[in-house]
Amino acid sequence: HIPVIAIDGPTASGKGTVAQKVAQHLGFHYLDSGALYRLTALSALRRNTPLDDEHAVAKVAEHLHCHFSGAHIFLANEDVTDAIRAEEVGNTASKIAAIPTVRQALYGLQLGFRQAPGLVADGRDMGTVIFPHAVLKVFLTASVEARAQRRYKQLIDKGFSANMQDLSKDLTERDARDTNRSSAPLKAAEGAFLLETSEMTADQAVEQVLHWYAA
Ligand code: CDP
Repeated sequence: HIPVIAIDGPTASGKGTVAQKVAQHLGFHYLDSGALYRLTALSALRRNTPLDDEHAVAKVAEHLHCHFSGAHIFLANEDVTDAIRAEEVGNTASKIAAIPTVRQALYGLQLGFRQAPGLVADGRDMGTVIFPHAVLKVFLTASVEARAQRRYKQLIDKGFSANMQDLSKDLTERDARDTNRSSAPLKAAEGAFLLETSEMTADQAVEQVLHWYAA
C-alpha cells in the first residue's frame, strides 16, 4: 500500500511549496498536478488551438508529451519550467481545467505518479477525485492579500513583470472559476484538515502537515 498525501487549495495559496517540502522531508515523490493543466494550456496556446473547441483542447491533453526531472518540467524536449508559470498560461490553464474531457485525459497520468515509497500530490481535486483514499488530506488556504503577495514574489523571482492590483483581480477570478465549475470544483475533501496559512511561514505549514501525517 503506497501512501498519498493530498494537498489542495486555491491559487497561490502556497500548496506547491509546502507539498514539495513535505515530499522532500519524507523522501516521497511529488505531483504538481497544476503543472499538467499549465502544460496543456501552453501547448494549446502554441498550436493556436481554439480554446473554446473542447474536443481539440482535450486532444492536446491526451497527447501531452511531458516529463518531470527533479524540479524541471519538459514539454517534448524543451525545458518549460519557467514558461508555464507565466500568468497568461495560468489563466488559460484555469479555463481549460473546466473542460471535463481535459480532466479525464489527465487522470491516468496523475495516478501514475503514485509510486513507492509514497506521494505528495498538490492541486484542486487531489483529495476529492484523483486520490480519494489518500491517507492524509489537507486543504490549504490564505487570504487574497497574502496570496497576491506570494504570487507577486514568485513572478518577480522568475523574471516576469507583475502588479498587485492585476494579480488580486486574477486571483479572485480564478477562485470563482475553480469553485463554480461543474467538473471537480475546488472544495475541501471530506475529512480534510484545514490549514489557514496567511500568517504562517512555509516551514510552519510543513511542520503542521508532517505532524498530522505522523499522528
Ligand atoms: O499556481 P496556481 O495555484 O494558480 O495554479 P496551478 O496549481 O499551477 O494550476 C493551474 C490551474 O489548473 C488552476 O487555476 C486550476 O484551475 C487548474 N487545476 C485544476 O483544475 N486541478 C488541479 N488538480 C490542479 C490545477
